[in-house]
Order: sequence, then C-alpha cells, then structure tokens
Amino acid sequence: MNKVFSFVLALTSLCATSCKLSLDAELSLDDKMSDAQIEAAIDTILPQLSLEEKVAMLHAQSKFSTPGVPRLGIPELWWSDGPHGVRAEINWNDWGYAGWNNDSCTAFPALSALAATFNPDLAYIYGVALGEESRYRKKNVILGPGVNIYRTPLNGRNFEYMGEDPFLASVLVVPYIHGVQSTGTATSVKHYALNNQEEDRMGVNVEVSERALRELYLPAFKAAVVDGKAWTLMGSYNRYNNQHCCHNEILLNKILKEEWGFDGVVVSDWGGAHDTKEAALYGLDVEMGSFTNGLDAQIGNFGWDDYNLARPYREAIKKGELTDKELNDKVRRILRLNFRTNNNWGPGRMTCDAHMKTAHDIAREAVTLLKNEGSILPLDPSKKIKIAVIGENATRTLVKAGGSSELKPKYEVAPLDGIKKQFPNADIQYATGYTSGAAFYGFAPAPKEDQKKLKAEAVELAKSADVVIYVGGLNKNYQQDCEGGDRQSYELPFGQDALIDAVAAVNKNMVVVLASGNAYSMPWLDKVPAVVQAWYLGSESGNVIAEVLDGSINPSGKLPFSFPVKLADSAPHSFNDPMVYPGVDHQQIYKEDILVGYRWHDTKGIKPLFPFGFGLSYTTFDVKNINVSNTAADIKVSADVANTGSVCGAEVLQVYVGKVDSKVARAQKELKGFQKVNVNKGATASVNISIPVESLKFFNEETHAWELEKGKYVVYVGTSSADILSTTEIEL
Ligand code: BGC
Repeated sequence: MNKVFSFVLALTSLCATSCKLSLDAELSLDDKMSDAQIEAAIDTILPQLSLEEKVAMLHAQSKFSTPGVPRLGIPELWWSDGPHGVRAEINWNDWGYAGWNNDSCTAFPALSALAATFNPDLAYIYGVALGEESRYRKKNVILGPGVNIYRTPLNGRNFEYMGEDPFLASVLVVPYIHGVQSTGTATSVKHYALNNQEEDRMGVNVEVSERALRELYLPAFKAAVVDGKAWTLMGSYNRYNNQHCCHNEILLNKILKEEWGFDGVVVSDWGGAHDTKEAALYGLDVEMGSFTNGLDAQIGNFGWDDYNLARPYREAIKKGELTDKELNDKVRRILRLNFRTNNNWGPGRMTCDAHMKTAHDIAREAVTLLKNEGSILPLDPSKKIKIAVIGENATRTLVKAGGSSELKPKYEVAPLDGIKKQFPNADIQYATGYTSGAAFYGFAPAPKEDQKKLKAEAVELAKSADVVIYVGGLNKNYQQDCEGGDRQSYELPFGQDALIDAVAAVNKNMVVVLASGNAYSMPWLDKVPAVVQAWYLGSESGNVIAEVLDGSINPSGKLPFSFPVKLADSAPHSFNDPMVYPGVDHQQIYKEDILVGYRWHDTKGIKPLFPFGFGLSYTTFDVKNINVSNTAADIKVSADVANTGSVCGAEVLQVYVGKVDSKVARAQKELKGFQKVNVNKGATASVNISIPVESLKFFNEETHAWELEKGKYVVYVGTSSADILSTTEIEL
C-alpha cells in the first residue's frame, strides 16, 4: 500500500513541477499511470479501506466536493458546472457564491449554439479549452455536456442541449468529451435520461416506448459512453418506469453499465437521490445535493452524513440489509475517477487569449442567418449611416443567468458595443424598446405603462434611421431559457412581437437579431427583410454578432432544431393533451413516439417556419455531381459544392435516409450523415460521406433488439431537412 500511496504522492509532486514548466498546458507528460496500473492500484487500495472511509466517498462533503481518504493520500474530488464554462466558486455549505476574485472564466457559446455549427472539430477545441479552464480551477469533473433531445420548444433548458436530432448530438458530443478529457478533466454527461422539460422535473414519470427511448433519447448518451468514454454521467431528476433516474434499474444497471459497459461514476443530479436501498442497488455511485431544496439552503438539521448514501447506507450494511458488493463497485469507480483525473496532467490555463479565440471561433460558425431579402445584409461599415439599435438584449448580460449553467465571465461583449466597434463611421443611437423586468427568479415583467413608453421611444428613433438593428429574443430569465421552469408561451416575451411590428411599420430596413436556445413564433416575419438567429454566444457574443452584420463573418450556422410556425405544430403539443405535455399527476406519455422535430414535420406534412438543418449564407452554393452508391456495409455519397458567389463561405451537406414500405412506423427520413465544407469564392470542394448500413437499423420492441430491414431505402441529399437536392432509391 505504501507503494501506491507514495505513487499518488509522487504524482502530486510531479504535477507541481509540471505546473511550473508548462504554463501552456503541455498535457502529454509521459509519466501517466496506464489503465492496468490504475486497476492494480485500486486492487491494492480497496481491501485497506474501512466501511466508513468507503461510504464517505459516496456522497458530498460540501456543495461541490466529495471526500478522499486523507490517511492514504487519496485526494478529494471537486465538481463544477458546466457545461459552457467553469462556474464561479460556490460556498461550502450553501448555494451562495464564495466571492473569489480569481474565478472569472471564458464563457463559451451555449451547447445549442455549438450544435448549430454542425462542426465536430469545434466541439473538440471547445472541450480542450473548457478542460484547461477546469484544471486551472482544480476541478476534477465538469458537469456537462447535456444531450437531452429537444422535444418541446417550451423546455427551459434546451439552450444547454444539442438539438432535436440524436445523430447530430452524438457526432458532436464525442469530440467535446475527448477534448475535455484530453486535459485530465472528467466530463459528466447529463441528464440521463428523458429530462426533456423543466415543468415538474423532480416528479414527472415519463412513459415512452422502448423504441423511442432507444432511437431518440439514448443514442447521444450511448455515443458519449461507448465512443466518448465519458468518465462520469449524471442521472436526471425525473422518473422512468416509476423509478427516479438517479437510481434506475433499467437505465443505469441494465443499459448503461451492463449493455454499454460504462466503467465510470454515476453522480446524482443535485438532490436527485431519494432512497438508500434503490441508490445502493440501482446504479448510483455518488450522491450530491440532497437535503437541500436545490436552490438555497440546507433544510432543517440535515447534514452531509444524512444523505442516502451516507449513514443510512452504513447502517444498512452493518445490519446486513445491504451487502458490500455494490459498495465495492461504487468505490472502485470513484477511485478510478480519482486516478484518471489525478494522473499527472498539466495545470491548465484560464481566460487566456487562446480560449477567447476558441469561444470566438465557435460562435462565428454558430450564427444562423434565417432570412436576408434583397441582400440587406451585410451592412456596409464604410458608410456614414444612421443606425438605430433597439432591444434589451443589445445591452444585457446573457451569460450571468439561466440556472446552474450561469457564468461569471471575464468579459461579455454586448451587441451594442460590438456594433459600435464594427461600424465606426455610423451614427448609432440606442433605445431598449422593451424591458424584461429583472434578471432572475420570481420577478414580474415591467409595468405596462413603462413598456408603452419604451416602445414609443424606439419607434420614434427608428423613423429617422437608415437601418434598424433589433436585438431581442429570449433571455435567461426564469421561464425564458432557464433551469427550473418551462416557457409559458411560444411567442417572444415582453411584447416584442408588437414592438417589431411597430418598428417595421416605420422603417423597412430592419434587421432582427434574436438570442435564444429555443424556437419561437415570428408573426412579423413577412414585414422584416432579415432575421439572424444569434443563440447565446458567450464572452465574444457582441463582437461576433457585429462581425456578421458587417460581413467580416459569413454566417454558416444551421438550425439544430425545427422552428414550427405555431406551438400546436410541434409534436408533443399537437395532441393538445396535458398527459403528453406537461403531464398530469406526475405522469406523462410521449404519444408522438419516434416522431420528434423534423421527423414529425416531414412525416405529417406540417411545414415548419424554418426546417431543421436550415441556414443561409452571404454567398451562393451550387451542389453538383451528387452520387449515391451502396454496398452491403455502407452507403457512399459524394458531391461537389461550388461557391458561386463573391465571398468565401461554408455549406453543410446533409444526408437523410428513409425506408420505403417499412413493416414498422417510420419517420419519412432521418439524418445519417453530414459534412461541413469551407469553400473559397469561385472554388469547388468535394464532399464524401459514408453511412454504415448498421445505422439504418430500427429498434424492434418485440425482440428488444436492433434490426435491419431489407429492401428499398431512399437517400436524400440536401442543405436542410426541407431543401432536398436529390433523392436516390437504393436496395439493401
Ligand atoms: C442541475 C444540474 C447541475 C446541478 C449542480 C442541478 O440543479 O440540474 O444540471 O449540474 O444542479 O449545479
């Protein structure tokens, strides 16, 4: 044992040396323990731990840490939100911020924005930079990424997730994890599973077919575990099969650990564990946040030792009600995590220029141009024009709110400041136009009279301007895009629809820029020439938005979820049944089954306002020579993408596949491959996409297995789920 202990110590001192040597986070130092060495070390340590020491490791000792074993030099583990940056330091015993002055971070774009890039390389550099910031802050685990599927546009946390398509989310989650974990920081993929709304998130029991579970809601988690090799995973608050997902026999024991071979740690969402026996038996390894109300303070006299996996667990084992078989498995996993994250990694770095550049690089590929009539965009920055900037999101923070993903950024460039910088020759005037009231939980919107006054001022300003740049959308107020509550309506909040109407009535040159991680209705769409979907872009937000407006950046983002015309056009809301959304008496049924997002729109023939995969560019592309062929193993698609416009740009070629005459219900088509290509003006890039035939399997509920149907399939090649350029029938 001494040997192992001294090895741990040796690692610690080696790390201290490397910190001095390598400010640039040269992370590939040679002296890392191999997997075999880690397992051997655990074999040596486990028998020497007392019951008390083992159980202590299974639950929180503070809001965001779990104990190690001081006697053996096994360090504590530190956990942090996640997933868009490293959250500021939280107090030991309550949810207040510790008030450090060295914990501001780089705010990266929200994961919904990352999804809009359709670019796995960016997911990787996102992960590396975030992992380095986590290491610098001495965090073992960053609580993210989130990969719950976008089911309803009302879900308050969609902005933290990667859209409505399981393939897109799977392709992006893997490099994100590889990036983070290449720095020695563990990821925690969340919220496993079926956390598709915030309404009744603690209680709702989701009834979903096994097929929809397997085909839609689990693939990104599976990719994260099997291909990403995530070191931890977070259970969700809701229930499945009438069992809480943080200790769920089917989801955790059967699927995650047995089928997928997950060898990492399952951590509860904060306060998501409810029962000692279930937690012991059904897959939970670490319990966090219990006996708190989830937001403010510890309740009553409960302490850390009153957690389900604390004293009650020790006592149950002592009484022989539970054995130490599961306990040893949990401890083995926790030790593995400890060794993995304390394996002579570099020190990391924080808020450096390189990370801000990474944030900028991701943001610039996320911005999605939805409309650009008469090529009103880009605006010419050399002109001495009068610009009216209108809208609260032009000046307010969109990073310091939203629930657990809120960040304390080193800086966040507001769109108004970005616009002033990019348009130095313009006369820029600003009017808020509306107010959202206040920043966070429980605040009422501003009184009606104030809104009227603000609107009148904005309209007045717009009248004399050459161009209006409207910057609005949702924000991260409670019940907008924020944890803990769903949106109450599909419309833009705070009277913005009427405001946009009124401004458009006095000035036709109106560019609408909207921040959100969700779709919303656009009743004014015909009245404005340009719409830019700007997501939540983090620290570099205002710079990137302004660079899109003046053409320094050519937008290339694509929607990672559909924008229905109205709420009733979205799958779960089409039933107009509270059992489908948001549930009744904590029970909910996913009646739309496998038809979520574009799968629903396509199959039911309900035209969306903007389809999944859609996004315009300042240049034009001509996709030529589309060729589709297949073997028994895969489908190959090749094409040439010619840039026929006057600036360089990027296009995302998307391949969807549908089954003809299927014996089971199917979506008309499903995304199975995509590739983003940068093409210089006048140049042509070739695209080659290979789709394993394996990926065409459906989940057969009778045999509980994935099955490939023989026969005819249609391969659709296009630039969005609705802009299909070629369809080819193939036989398998
Ligand atoms: C959220 C998690 C978060 C945790 C810790 C919970 O309320 O659901 O996503 O990681 O709090 O802040």
